[in-house]
Amino acid sequence: MDSNNKTVVLTGSTGAIGTELAKLLAQGGYNLVLINRSQKKSAAQVAQLRELFPEQRFDGLIADLMDTDQIKDLISKIVLTYSQIDALYNVSGLLTDRRIISPQGVEGHFALNTLAPYMLIQGLRSQLSAGASDGNQSVIVNFSSSAINAVKEIDVTQLRNPDKIGGLMDAYAKSKLAVTAVTCLLKDDLMEENILIYSVDPGATKSSMTKESTGMPPLLRLLAPLLFKSPDRQAMKIIKGMEAAVTDGKSGLFITNGRRKPNPHLALDKAFQSDLKALLQDLSR
Ligand SMILES: NC(=O)c1ccc[n+]([C@@H]2O[C@H](COP(=O)([O-])OP(=O)(O)OC[C@H]3O[C@@H](n4cnc5c(N)ncnc54)[C@H](OP(=O)(O)O)[C@@H]3O)[C@@H](O)[C@H]2O)c1
Repeated sequence: MDSNNKTVVLTGSTGAIGTELAKLLAQGGYNLVLINRSQKKSAAQVAQLRELFPEQRFDGLIADLMDTDQIKDLISKIVLTYSQIDALYNVSGLLTDRRIISPQGVEGHFALNTLAPYMLIQGLRSQLSAGASDGNQSVIVNFSSSAINAVKEIDVTQLRNPDKIGGLMDAYAKSKLAVTAVTCLLKDDLMEENILIYSVDPGATKSSMTKESTGMPPLLRLLAPLLFKSPDRQAMKIIKGMEAAVTDGKSGLFITNGRRKPNPHLALDKAFQSDLKALLQDLSR
């Protein structure tokens, strides 16, 4: 993607991987719309990027992406300001063993990890489509996880208010499987508008999610400082993996550690996709 006067929307840009992605994208010449929930962290990041890259535009927008009312306001603001968007990175994520419920009564993992990306994709679709003019393709990146490999079955009716939250990152893994299914179910429609969409698993990465969160099984939390990679290294792999996929023009791919892997069969299941789409449409209203 040629960065000349192009704009990327990035959620969770003050997190570990988001911070590194924002730096790499800024170095690549992109203008950035950075969406975060902390005004203080966002202001510091925007000030630093403006100082380092004075020719580019950096806007920090504040929203709790677990709250669909705030997502709707956020989309209205972005749409008013930007007629064209070239990429959307849905990075924000939640991993916890606590039951958190959104203001609209949706379980936190599903609200932040699945519903927010879906709403942003649909809400910014016209702008992404406009970004895809002149033979270029726009790009959407949904953040998935290898935790989805532990999901052996998934029931759409459980996503909104699951019986189980913790264990083997149960609700987290299912919300990530669901956002992976969102990539698969939207890819053909988006392709008609020259928008490519991918699921990315950044790989085991040192971050507050893997260091402080009690959502990770204890053994994994113990091993994380030894085995998990630094976010700058993982962010570089994500960008390289994305660039290669975009150059090939293939959409709907699952990319892990910069390499392509088959999508999990549950994410490709048409009945699941159809029920999930109906639920997401309902919750987006
Ligand atoms: N680290 C790993 O090993 C790993 C592996 C697989 C997938 N992933 C995925 O990669 C993505 C980035 O994770 P990370 O490791 O960089 O974790 P992180 O450092 O904890 O970053 C998570 C980001 O999400 C934001 N966030 C949390 N709740 C939010 C809310 N209600 N509204 C808006 N933003 C919210 C956080 O904001 P604050 O800065 O305000 O906290 C932070 O920017 C996530 O989607 C994660 O699931 C990570």
